[in-house]
Order: sequence, then C-alpha cells, then structure tokens
Amino acid sequence: MSFAERYGPWAVIAGASEGTGRAFARKIAANGVPSVLLARRREPLMALAGEIRAESGVECVTATVDLAAPDALDRIVAAVGPREVGLFVNNAGADTNGARFLDRGVEAWLQLARINVMTMLRCCHHFAGPMRARGRGGLLLVNSGACYGGASHMATYTASKAFMLCFGEGLWAELRQHGVDVLTLVLGQTDTPAFRKLLAEKGMPFPDKAASPDDVAALGLERLPYGPVQNWGLADDVIGYAPNSASMRRERVLMIEKMSKQIFGDR
Ligand SMILES: NC(=O)c1ccc[n+]([C@@H]2O[C@H](COP(=O)([O-])OP(=O)(O)OC[C@H]3O[C@@H](n4cnc5c(N)ncnc54)[C@H](OP(=O)(O)O)[C@@H]3O)[C@@H](O)[C@H]2O)c1
Repeated sequence: MSFAERYGPWAVIAGASEGTGRAFARKIAANGVPSVLLARRREPLMALAGEIRAESGVECVTATVDLAAPDALDRIVAAVGPREVGLFVNNAGADTNGARFLDRGVEAWLQLARINVMTMLRCCHHFAGPMRARGRGGLLLVNSGACYGGASHMATYTASKAFMLCFGEGLWAELRQHGVDVLTLVLGQTDTPAFRKLLAEKGMPFPDKAASPDDVAALGLERLPYGPVQNWGLADDVIGYAPNSASMRRERVLMIEKMSKQIFGDR
C-alpha cells in the first residue's frame, strides 16, 4: 500500500503550526494526504495551510484548539467533521515552564498533564476506533527522552511522557493485528521555536547539535510501520537506553539534575 492508501484519506496533527508539527504537516501533504491542522494561534496555522496548498496542491483544514482545555476533543471532532481520519499525529506537548514543581501554581502542571495525557488519550480513543474497524491507519506520538525517567525541573513533563510511552507500547500491542500502526517517536534536543524560546528565556545558548524538525518528521513517518518506539539518533536495535535497575535509575535522575541545573540554574 502507498502512504496515502495506508494513512489517508485525512490526517490530524495536534500542534501543527511550527517546529516538528509543521514539518509533519508538510511531509504528510507531500505524500498526498491532506491534514486537519490544530494549534492555539490562528495566523501561523493559516500561513502554513497556504504554503502547503501552494507547494503540494493538497487541501488543509485549520482549527484553533487549546489541547489543554477540557473540551479539546469536542472542538477537534467539530473541526474534523465527517472526514475519515487515517493518521493522528500527537505532536504538541513540550514543557514551557522549565521550573521546579512547587515553583509554579498547580494549574500550569495540570495543563501540561491534560495535553500529554487526557487529550492525547481521548484523541487516540476517538481516532483509533474507526481505524481498527477499517483495518488500517496510524497513531504517531511525539515523545522525548524525558519519558525514560523522572528529572528535576521536569517532574510533570517526564511523568506525562512516561505515560505516553507505556500507552503507546500498549496500543501498538493491541492494534497491530488490526493493521493500525502505533509509533512513539522519542526526540532529543530539536530545533523548534518553542525550544529556542525556552532557552532564550533562561539565557542559555542554543545547542549546536539540535536535530532538524524536517529530519525528525521524516524519520517518524518512515518508522511508523515499525513501532512501538523509535529513538531519534539511535539505531533501532540499540539496547540499554532506558536503564531500569533501582541504582541505574537513581544515577540517571542525578545525572539529569546536573544538566537541569546548568540550564535552569540552582533555584
Ligand atoms: N524541541 C525539543 O528539543 C524537543 C525535545 C524532545 C521532545 N520534544 C517533543 O516534540 C514535540 C514538539 O515540541 P516543540 O518544541 O515544537 O514544542 P510544543 O509546544 O510541544 O509544540 C509546538 C506546537 O504545538 C502547538 N501547541 C503548543 N501548546 C498547545 C496547546 N495547548 N494547544 C494546542 N496547540 C499547542 C504550538 O502552536 P500554538 O502555540 O499556536 O498553540 C505549535 O504548533 C513535543 O511533544 C515535545 O515534547 C521536543
């Protein structure tokens, strides 16, 4: 089957307007599949939709949705309308706080948890049901190396991404015999506007080796049939990336605490 036969006729991209989400939208369109593009800000979405129409001749629908809102799925369902969705890309979900748990009001963390856990789960349930019935489709969950263990300044982020990792693995196990591909794409530092903004706010230089959103999106779409997990920058068969003994987990938390202090300071 071609990409369009396997993952068409429509894709939905949550967090589509910039960075990796934008790269996914352009690459999916280049494969002949139109998308429903979701984000909070209207202007970048409209601009991207215009670019995609000009470059691929493929249709785009845009909708402003806050994925942290309790009614996010209702708004997404309304935007999608009767379109048949064969691919759902869950892209948004970075932590823009860069703070210790008790140094932000609880609402900031609840918002992050709603995006990465509740809305992601609701969307997967909503879109994967018809995919299973049709015997084809894909769920692509954009994750972070943060999913492999808790870390200072990222407690809610790491926990929500760990949820996504286990959830994606479970769905992969349940859905693959029904022709539905599920991939958790685990990223490292990636050159997105959100990451640049966070580092600029912290007065930190941008790293030389950040991945390009185009490369990341290309890898995600290429590896979508080969779930449940693809780690950016590591060959598919590398083991030992997720240490699980108690002492290794402790070492990992302390190692990342040192990195966090370099970025966020010792506050
Ligand atoms: N950049 C990195 O270094 C890095 C590293 C590891 C993992 N990742 C993962 O890669 C994904 C993308 O990260 P990113 O750096 O591009 O930042 P991001 O904030 O997760 O994604 C940016 C996109 O999502 C939209 N968005 C953000 N919050 C939203 C909300 N509440 N409701 C609807 N749309 C929302 C943004 O548009 P609006 O602002 O208009 O809503 C924009 O289109 C995330 O899942 C992140 O965890 C990134």
